[in-house]
Amino acid sequence: MAQVLWFLLPAATVITLLAPVAAGANDSDCPGKCGDVDIPYPYGIGDNCSWRGMYSLTCNHSFDPPRLYVGDNEVLDISLETGEMRILTAVSSQCYSPVNETAGVTTSVSNSLKVTQLLISTSRNEFTAIGCNTLALLRSRSYYTGCITSCVSLAKAARDGDKCTGLGCCQTSIPGNLSDIAVTWNDHYSDGRAKKRVWRYSPCSYAFVAQKDWYDFERKDLVRNNSFARKFGNRTLTEVPLVLDWAIRADGYCPPSTNKDGALEEPTASACVSTNSHCVNASHGFGYLCNCSKGYIGNPYVTGGCTNINECELRKSDPTRYEKQYPCGSGSTCYDTPGDYKCKCNLGRRGDGKGDTGCQLIFPRCAIAVVATFVVSVLACFVIVELKKQKQKKYFDQNGGKILKSMGINIFTEEQLKKITNRYSTPIGEGAFGKVFMGTIDNAQRVAVKRASMKGEVLPQEEFVNEITFQFRISHTNMVRLLGCCLETDIPMLVFELVPKGSLYNVLHSMDDQHTLSLAERLRIAIGSAEALAHMHSHAGDNNHVHGDVKSGNILLDNDLTPKVSDFGSSKLVSIASMYSKWCVSGDMSYIDPVYIKSGRFTEKSDVYSFGVVLLELITRKTAKYGDNSLPLDFVKCCKEEGNGRKLYDRDIMKSDDRQSHCHMECLDRIGKLAVRCLKEDVEERPTMSEVVEELKEVKSTACGDKSTLMKKADC
Ligand SMILES: *[C@@H]1O[C@H](CO)[C@@H](O)[C@H](O)[C@H]1NC(C)=O
Ligand SMILES: *[C@@H]1O[C@H](CO)[C@@H](O)[C@H](O)[C@H]1NC(C)=O
Ligand SMILES: *[C@@H]1O[C@H](CO)[C@@H](O)[C@H](O)[C@H]1NC(C)=O
Ligand SMILES: *[C@@H]1O[C@H](CO)[C@@H](O)[C@H](O)[C@H]1NC(C)=O
Ligand SMILES: *[C@@H]1O[C@H](CO)[C@@H](O)[C@H](O)[C@H]1NC(C)=O
Ligand SMILES: *[C@@H]1O[C@H](CO)[C@@H](O)[C@H](O)[C@H]1NC(C)=O
Ligand SMILES: *[C@@H]1O[C@H](CO)[C@@H](O)[C@H](O)[C@H]1NC(C)=O
Ligand SMILES: *[C@@H]1O[C@H](CO)[C@@H](O)[C@H](O)[C@H]1NC(C)=O
Ligand SMILES: *[C@@H]1O[C@H](CO)[C@@H](O)[C@H](O)[C@H]1NC(C)=O
Repeated sequence: MAQVLWFLLPAATVITLLAPVAAGANDSDCPGKCGDVDIPYPYGIGDNCSWRGMYSLTCNHSFDPPRLYVGDNEVLDISLETGEMRILTAVSSQCYSPVNETAGVTTSVSNSLKVTQLLISTSRNEFTAIGCNTLALLRSRSYYTGCITSCVSLAKAARDGDKCTGLGCCQTSIPGNLSDIAVTWNDHYSDGRAKKRVWRYSPCSYAFVAQKDWYDFERKDLVRNNSFARKFGNRTLTEVPLVLDWAIRADGYCPPSTNKDGALEEPTASACVSTNSHCVNASHGFGYLCNCSKGYIGNPYVTGGCTNINECELRKSDPTRYEKQYPCGSGSTCYDTPGDYKCKCNLGRRGDGKGDTGCQLIFPRCAIAVVATFVVSVLACFVIVELKKQKQKKYFDQNGGKILKSMGINIFTEEQLKKITNRYSTPIGEGAFGKVFMGTIDNAQRVAVKRASMKGEVLPQEEFVNEITFQFRISHTNMVRLLGCCLETDIPMLVFELVPKGSLYNVLHSMDDQHTLSLAERLRIAIGSAEALAHMHSHAGDNNHVHGDVKSGNILLDNDLTPKVSDFGSSKLVSIASMYSKWCVSGDMSYIDPVYIKSGRFTEKSDVYSFGVVLLELITRKTAKYGDNSLPLDFVKCCKEEGNGRKLYDRDIMKSDDRQSHCHMECLDRIGKLAVRCLKEDVEERPTMSEVVEELKEVKSTACGDKSTLMKKADC
């Protein structure tokens, strides 16, 4: 049985030794742990496992679990970051034992501590003495201190948890550079009587140097033997923890940090073998410590010991602890980098996620709202334009655009017309059809664009197309030529050649026009217009093509006074006048055939009536309605009463030449007569337009021809 155990023991030891190998010591015989205590390099078990053999520790396996020792003192733990080691040290004590009622024996235990390469930490330790009649001393080679504590009775001692101020316990700080101390007693401090009095309630005193704040005063510590011993894990300690400072002390100081290329280069020393490590001067005593660079963690005394800290992982694994240490503001994403981490701002944000302000929205919320509104508006505009295009196409189809195009009629787009008329900037008149605007095609050809003004009443497509086709085909020197049309609007627009001199109405009646038309010119105008109307009527066929709005305002004059009848576009509308009677009647009442007003039927003879009024205008140079008078009524009345209308003739014609005035009068009489026939109430008595042309031509050749003819037939 014993033999079996003997074999088992080393095997178990090897396993425990192997498990945590001291990092850096590639010797597999260097254990990284002794019992529960980690052994970080430069410390190690044995000379071959520690740095230069100077940091050698021992592991006593006779305990379970094994205990780690530095010299004679048990090691509790070793810290690389702070360069500290905690060990256990013995407590010095002094006890008074009575022999008989009058005499007793004092037993004193004084402990000393001597460490090499180590210093007793001044900031982390303090000297404590416990007792009611005690002077405890702390002694080093050239140093002496102590503290006195007393209490006249247990009840006068400090309360549990109170500070050690001398009532049952006293404490004092210790200086630096101590590595060799002894805690002793001043045996001559009090006489026997006092001792005798005190031992009844407090037989023992204790003193020790221990980790600060480790000891809390309790009154019972004055009463029983060693009762102040604290629970330490599962072990009851009779010793107290002491903090030692260690450093690499055999290698000089850490060299000063150097400035290289403007960047502070961290100093390094021979013990700091890991990359991303540097040396730091020891805070206590000579020498230096090694530390991993910022963002790295591990053992700087071991090759490759310092490893990157994955801050992002830490943040995830323990947010409460690490989110403050490694801040990464909201709106950013954490990325680990060697030795650091980045907080990249998420889309739409900028700034530094690690900073106090964190990631800011690149565009403030209101800006985003504005941009969104803008985008929506643009989309809406786009949709509207698209809808308008479709609508235009609809109108185009509705108005028979395809048919017209196939016949070679110019089809203008709304946009083109806008450009041609320079946005309808120059209106030049208003006809029955609608408003007329001046325009220029290709900066050369001047045109008149007629835009229908009525809304809502759209001609049936077939009729409209027929009408446009008719107007396009019927061409006559004395008719304004249709050049094209636009079908994209709900009311079509028509493009005509521009007749420069304006209407006969303007030429005849405008006051400021110095040039009065000669009789010959007037006759030529009358003949030309009549021919145009006759030409139109001759194409009557089924479609009843009449002009519908014959008046001096619709007879335009070329630069050489060639008349051109315009606005026959309305003839189509007039042909269905019964439907649009309201519109029609709103035309110039003086020219309208009274028969049409009575019957509601517009015929070619209605045009003849209107032309009769125009003839009267030509010879009288009076407007169809002058003052309160109606020219046709007055003229007819005048003719009835006096046999002619001479009273009303334009005097300017007569004035021109006395020799011819007789002929002129004759001429005017004949035209007047013709006009009166045109105005007959009985439609049947009115001549047709071709008859009017014949008659006028005859008047011209017989009475009012060119001068030579005129001279020959002077006695007409
Ligand atoms: C440890 O390993 C290094 C190389 O990895 C070698 O140079 C060194 O001699 C080894 N030390 C021991 C004690 O085996
Ligand atoms: C330490 O290493 C040396 C050389 O490798 C060897 O001679 C010596 O025995 C070792 N010492 C111990 C305690 O292992
Ligand atoms: C281990 O501790 C025991 C008990 O204190 C002691 O007798 C023994 O000598 C120690 N062994 C070593 C190797 O220090
Ligand atoms: C080593 O670095 C850590 C963190 O960078 C710091 O907390 C610690 O005090 C440093 N140790 C020494 C001895 O300077
Ligand atoms: C008490 O003990 C001391 C010394 O041991 C002795 O001298 C003394 O006489 C004793 N006193 C009594 C009353 O026994
Ligand atoms: C400790 O010793 C160092 C040098 O060994 C000296 O510079 C320092 O002043 C000493 N500190 C104290 C508190 O004596
Ligand atoms: C105090 O304890 C120690 C060891 O545990 C013992 O030797 C001593 O007699 C005790 N003293 C008293 C007064 O109980
Ligand atoms: C410490 O004590 C607890 C119970 O008090 C026990 O469960 C545990 O196993 C003990 N640990 C050791 C290492 O003995
Ligand atoms: C360490 O201390 C030495 C001596 O005081 C000094 O020269 C050196 O600059 C210090 N090194 C650092 C990194 O502070």
